[in-house]
Amino acid sequence: MFQYRIRGGNRLLGELKIGGAKNAALPILAAACLNESETIIENCPRISDILDTIEILNRVGCETEFEGNTLKVRADRKLNCEIPAEIAEKMRSSVLFMGAFLARCGRAILPAPGGCNLGARAIDLHIKGLIAMGAKIHEENGKIFCETDGLTGAKIKLSFASVGATENLMLAAVRARGETIIENAAREPEIIDLSDFLKKIGADIRGAGTGTIVIRGKKSLSKPVLHKVIFDRIVAGTHLVAAAMTGGEICLKNVRPFDLMPVAGCLKEMGCFLRSEGGDIYLRAPERLRALPRIVTRVHPGFPTDMQAQFVAALAIAEGKSEVVETVFENRCSHVGELRKMGANIRLTADKRTFLISGAASLRGATVAAHDLRCGAALILAALAADGESIVQNARFVERGYSGIENDLYSLGADISLENTPVRDII
Ligand code: UD1
Repeated sequence: MFQYRIRGGNRLLGELKIGGAKNAALPILAAACLNESETIIENCPRISDILDTIEILNRVGCETEFEGNTLKVRADRKLNCEIPAEIAEKMRSSVLFMGAFLARCGRAILPAPGGCNLGARAIDLHIKGLIAMGAKIHEENGKIFCETDGLTGAKIKLSFASVGATENLMLAAVRARGETIIENAAREPEIIDLSDFLKKIGADIRGAGTGTIVIRGKKSLSKPVLHKVIFDRIVAGTHLVAAAMTGGEICLKNVRPFDLMPVAGCLKEMGCFLRSEGGDIYLRAPERLRALPRIVTRVHPGFPTDMQAQFVAALAIAEGKSEVVETVFENRCSHVGELRKMGANIRLTADKRTFLISGAASLRGATVAAHDLRCGAALILAALAADGESIVQNARFVERGYSGIENDLYSLGADISLENTPVRDII
């Protein structure tokens, strides 16, 4: 089992190129199943969620080749459209194959989805939308069976702007008969990237990035395509917070500063100096971070829930009292108990949605365990800023979403290494 060993106290200094976004690449990989010509995806992150998704593609009958950060997919043969349980259980995003497979083969069989343990994480909106488009769906022995003799366009109003449901319905609608309108659609940059990819393979989509997406289905989709995945705004945000917490000064390359606005705005309020130019964003940290009265996670363009844990870690060493409210997920708080082991003063309300933080002068190194991906990121950040040595166990959660984070941080001056240990992961 792998763990990070981190000695805190080094300022992060220097430049870092940010790679492609996990949350854009995952739905695009599902979308590659819809293309009966060759798909080439550039800037594809080498993280375990992507490797697992490639495994799904291979198992259902696609041919793939992954070299460096370029992934080639051929989906021109008949696909079997059933996802093996051992892969789907690891990853919630495997649910995106439901829409893609229904569109491509008229059927899909997948086990109930897995991934980070963040509350119920229902998929009712995905299912309701697909049923409205003519799919028959039932669950039996922990498997979801989906079938259709042809999807039809429908008007679907999502009760919540779910990222995954929006993507699943887009994937289904591009080959449905007639027009689909998704209202209250998610507006994340990753939705726009998926739409751009689908357009390149011949889909007719308008409105991605707004609350209403209109899709006219096509009989088949087949165009050779080369697509470069957008940058990972959460990886970029994580490094900005790392620099902010260590009194550092860094420049991130290959980003779109506009997509980082909610995060950059908070860092400015905390006393950081930020400047953006073209595809670069530069941050210089103050001597001590200031508390923030209130951060509330929201759907895009609000403050991203995927940055909540990292900011809780930063506010744990900021001067003054802060409040962070999680509104997107019901159980995104596993970092709190671990941060407390490092001396953080964080109180969680009974509904586990509000974090009341009283900034400590410093944190102390400790042995802590990641319980999910962003929890792991937050613990690494806290360890970089803490006095002494920390061990962050369960590195495998972090590897789901960060490609070699230890190398990136090391290149910026952090004292961090990834080590193999006989100790079993703490679940
Ligand atoms: C995606 C991202 C994840 C991010 C999240 C919110 C990927 C692979 N993952 O996850 O990193 O944290 O968006 O920005 O892109 N919900 C329902 N019913 C549904 C669907 C969702 O109740 O059918 C609820 C979920 O339980 C959760 C909330 O809506 O509380 C957000 O879910 P959603 O936007 O769907 O997130 P994901 O697509 O799972």
